[in-house]
Amino acid sequence: MTHTASFAVIIPAAGSGSRFGGGDKLLVDLGGLTVLQRSVALFAHRPDVRHITLVTAPDRFEAYRSHLRSIVSPDKLHFVPGGRERWESVLNGLRSLSSLTPPPLFVGIHDAARPLTPPAIIDEAFRVTVERDAALPCLAEPATLKRMGENGCVAATIDRRGLYQAQTPQCFNVAKLLAGFEKLHAANQLADVTDDAQVFERNGWPVPISTGSPLNLKITTAADVELARAIVASSTSTDSSHAR
Ligand code: CTP
Ligand code: MG
Repeated sequence: MTHTASFAVIIPAAGSGSRFGGGDKLLVDLGGLTVLQRSVALFAHRPDVRHITLVTAPDRFEAYRSHLRSIVSPDKLHFVPGGRERWESVLNGLRSLSSLTPPPLFVGIHDAARPLTPPAIIDEAFRVTVERDAALPCLAEPATLKRMGENGCVAATIDRRGLYQAQTPQCFNVAKLLAGFEKLHAANQLADVTDDAQVFERNGWPVPISTGSPLNLKITTAADVELARAIVASSTSTDSSHAR
């Protein structure tokens, strides 16, 4: 690691998992650890992360606290109530950061539903953020993209050149992101914001793109669980073959 800056990590975990179709998707088992345990573990022992703020419904605080006891030291883990939309959850988390000691200079915001982020993706996003105040891990879009017409048939093919999938952790200078959020909030311009980089974009601030990974998948539907389990199983067998 080439920097020693202090990061806080906000983990929005207050969603309802409506596309998942039943049960708490964050508590699904992936090879011995749940989605939530793995997402928190990505940051629990990094020397550059001083605080982890989990944003969720207050009635889950105690259950999640005990669920994460074996993953992260309790004095590093903070709980903040979620909001109706993802941006509200993130804003609640951001506003809480000023009460931490010491207040963090930088923040990484990582979906609780992304349990398998390769550490190199986090390393690069943090490094770019320290240099340039923001970083957005992105994956060049590999698919041929179609727009569907009203008749259920293809209406158009979208040129994929220059298109990227945004991933997390999205990382920022804390003071700048909070100022950008508060400005848009006061102007009622957050309603359709679905990721944090949009706050920088709408303020006219550059968002440097860092490397993303197809392994950095988000658990959205039940099919994603099968894929995530296969990735975990293959990395476990690779680890043990290295050990042999
Ligand atoms: N999230 C949040 N607060 C919200 C909505 C979402 O903290 N009001 C979090 C989710 O818990 C998740 C992350 O944002 O970790 C990404 O959201 P998504 O994958 O869309 O999860 P859900 O919103 O829970 O799922 P769905 O959209 O299918 O309801
Ligand atoms: Mg959602």
